[in-house]
Amino acid sequence: MLNLIRPYLHYLGAGIVCTIFVGLANLAVYWIIKDVIDQVLTRTDSAGVSHQLNLIILGILVLFSLKGLFYYGQVYLMAFVGQRAVVDLRNKLYTHLQRLSISFHEARRTGDMISRITNDVATIQTSLSTGIADLLLQVVTLAGIVGFMFYLDWKLSLVTIITIPAVAAVVSRAGHRLRTITALIQGKIADITSVLEETLSGIRIVKAFTMERQEIKRFARENEDSFAVTMRGAKVNAIIAPLVELLAVLGTAAVLWYGGHQVIRGSLTLGEFMAFLGCVGSAPTPMGRLSATYASFQQALGAADRVFALLDVKIDVVDDPNAVPLPPIKGHVEFKNVSFAYGDGELALDGINLSARPGEVIAFVGPSGAGKTTLVNLLLRFYDPLSGSVEIDGYDLRNVQVESLRRQIGLVPQDVVLFGVTVRENIAYGKDDATLDEIIQAAKMANAHDFIMKLPAGYETRLGERGVSLSGGQRQRIAIARAILRNPRILILDEATSSLDAESEALIQEALARLVKDRTTFIIAHRLSTVRNADKIVVLDRGKIVEVGTHLELLAKGGLYSRLSLMQFSQGGPAVREEAI
Ligand SMILES: Nc1ncnc2c1ncn2[C@@H]1O[C@H](COP(=O)(O)OP(=O)(O)O)[C@@H](O)[C@H]1O
Ligand SMILES: [Mg+2]
Repeated sequence: MLNLIRPYLHYLGAGIVCTIFVGLANLAVYWIIKDVIDQVLTRTDSAGVSHQLNLIILGILVLFSLKGLFYYGQVYLMAFVGQRAVVDLRNKLYTHLQRLSISFHEARRTGDMISRITNDVATIQTSLSTGIADLLLQVVTLAGIVGFMFYLDWKLSLVTIITIPAVAAVVSRAGHRLRTITALIQGKIADITSVLEETLSGIRIVKAFTMERQEIKRFARENEDSFAVTMRGAKVNAIIAPLVELLAVLGTAAVLWYGGHQVIRGSLTLGEFMAFLGCVGSAPTPMGRLSATYASFQQALGAADRVFALLDVKIDVVDDPNAVPLPPIKGHVEFKNVSFAYGDGELALDGINLSARPGEVIAFVGPSGAGKTTLVNLLLRFYDPLSGSVEIDGYDLRNVQVESLRRQIGLVPQDVVLFGVTVRENIAYGKDDATLDEIIQAAKMANAHDFIMKLPAGYETRLGERGVSLSGGQRQRIAIARAILRNPRILILDEATSSLDAESEALIQEALARLVKDRTTFIIAHRLSTVRNADKIVVLDRGKIVEVGTHLELLAKGGLYSRLSLMQFSQGGPAVREEAI
């Protein structure tokens, strides 16, 4: 946390100075009360007195103008430090998250990550910006009050101080109990809600089994429980105020009794006594604020733990220090005896040997879970193989800079992601220097241009939430345009035709013929109709290659491919979705 504040130390310092001044100004009020009473109200020589009074009033005006100024400084500077630190922290976290590998992100829940960047960071921010200032202000005020009380009369102070811890103890015990009870109340509310949810959404079952009466009883029981817990809270609440007041009155009575006698005997002036009473009356406020600040610091520390745990996660896929940029790819791809497993799981790929020559179209087919997407993941180096190697143009992927690799591969993933920006920006994602001409060219290649022109604002139409929504086939074609805009030597289409209507599929099929020219292309397909023309069809099953050949060769062979193919065509041709493939 300290590292976060370090760049802003001078702001923090100035903020602290302001805070201390504000705290002292609060105290000066009691000084003024004392002076007003002792030097003005209880004196009789009217000439000197009115001069005194004027001075005091002037002093008050000056003091509070200054206090206002410093208060502004305090709030502004402290907020500045807190907010700056938080902006930096958020950026740092986000940068870290972007650099962490796919395997890291797969192992975490996205909601958890988001909550750390938003809620936890916000908690830290509250405590950094208002917490530190508040803590300081209360400490200064409290120390000042106590110091001033001792300065006025140390014996009287001792009498008072004894009662303060008693009050504090009562308040903190009651606060603790209240927190426990609040948690119980919340639990009860959750119980009631779940009874409601279960029985109302399952009302047919309740009625069919004639359980209405029992359910009414169950609900009434939960409701009574909630009443009982809530009343326990009410009791504690009802007891705190009178108890604290009683203790305070006891303290005040002691002060009044002892102090009053001092005043009568003349060893304490009336002004001093009144100022003293003022101090006693105002001490509980900073004490209460201190304990609240303490609680919020506890929360912030918890949040900081979660945030820093995330920052401490090591980035696992990193470029080797000797990694070279991958030169412009020709498109020779080779899997050499590659095995891979996700985490500690079973082998998702087992001894894969495969080579693709530049410009070849390779199709992967096989049941879902066979390892088709995994092969693609390794080619993009989302993961490193457990054993064996993946090579492009003879370069082992582990020895090249990851960015230079991914820049040269076009990927149309299984789940297309479009962002809430314009169609043009979506296509240009990953190549922001693309001209509109290039974008239109890519859209035409992907057979997307025509439907884009029919959108309300053409290429400038906003997509996604609150924007235009597209059909699966349209999204798919935008994703294809995005992938080929980079003019990649290697193109990967992962089930690009699986969720399409017949018309979209026909359009994409037609586009494919154009797309694959001069590129090494990997097509993963549900529908075998898509892959018929491939140079090589690779049939995968449970992480292993079981057959390789052209469509006709594989049909003739009568293996898995011919069985899959028979199944699909007998079920009504290529337009029918076949889950098994
Ligand atoms: N991110 C992942 N974490 C763990 N296991 C995975 C992950 N992705 C895929 N798998 C497993 O790896 C195997 C191959 O999956 P995949 O390559 O997605 O198959 P396909 O694309 O052929 O349907 C399956 O058993 C699947 O459950
Ligand atoms: Mg897949």
